[in-house]
Amino acid sequence: MAEYPVKLGVIGGSGVYEMEGVELVKQHDLETPFGKPSDKIMEVRLEGKTAYFLPRHGKGHRLTPSEVNYRANVYALKSLGVTHVLAVSAVGIMQEDIHPGDMVVPDQMFDRTKGQREASFFGNGVVGHIEFADPFDQEMLSLVAQAAKAKMGDKVHTGGAYVCIEGPQFSTRAESRHYRETLKPSVIGMTGLPEAKLVREAEMCYGMLALATDYDCWKEGADDVSVEAILAILKANSENAKAIVRQLISKLPEVSSSPNLEAAKFAIITSPDAIPAQRR
Ligand code: ADE
Repeated sequence: MAEYPVKLGVIGGSGVYEMEGVELVKQHDLETPFGKPSDKIMEVRLEGKTAYFLPRHGKGHRLTPSEVNYRANVYALKSLGVTHVLAVSAVGIMQEDIHPGDMVVPDQMFDRTKGQREASFFGNGVVGHIEFADPFDQEMLSLVAQAAKAKMGDKVHTGGAYVCIEGPQFSTRAESRHYRETLKPSVIGMTGLPEAKLVREAEMCYGMLALATDYDCWKEGADDVSVEAILAILKANSENAKAIVRQLISKLPEVSSSPNLEAAKFAIITSPDAIPAQRR
């Protein structure tokens, strides 16, 4: 495996629309073949390292999870030279030992979206199948976990699955209990997919810092999830999340040889002479 210079891109979720405590170098207002990303991408600097920040739902939170243009977001980050993508996401809690305000670094995913999101860069004459057994990059997992633990200690849970629902409604109680009993995930959210798939197809490394906000609606004695409750927890916690992101930026390795940086090398099955000229 070759070594690639590392550049971090951060996709901020609910409650994390800006990055403070970093120097703003430039704002990139990009157009991609898939349309515009959710917002301008901020190029920031910290301790000599460059990183890029994109608010997933746009500033002012204008896009539902189904409306986010995931392809444009991922394409735009790739075009800026990003190699490692950190998703910061508010999530519901699906395990007793995780508490509101804790942070989770999941290592697996279940896709329970409804197939209405554009989930691949392949198609239109080019067929490719990427390997996706482990949606999160190993190197990112340990970097994110280390940065999170340095700030939050044992309030950080590593491993476990993230189940992605379509939303924008939260789950029914029957669904919530069903996920808990069958999938046994750690957390539940609405945006990790197809983001993680597209990041892999674009040959970047994906990691997630999940901010645990609520017990969805499975837990007896706990309030059912509401936006009000989510925002209250995020308000108390987004500073910690930003501190963890800053820590991650400052501790990034100079180079990486993660296999995910060459994930699409052997993925394309269409014979080269059958690929439409404009897609070569
Ligand atoms: N994001 C935050 N809490 C959530 C929940 N309970 N379900 C889905 N997405 C969420």
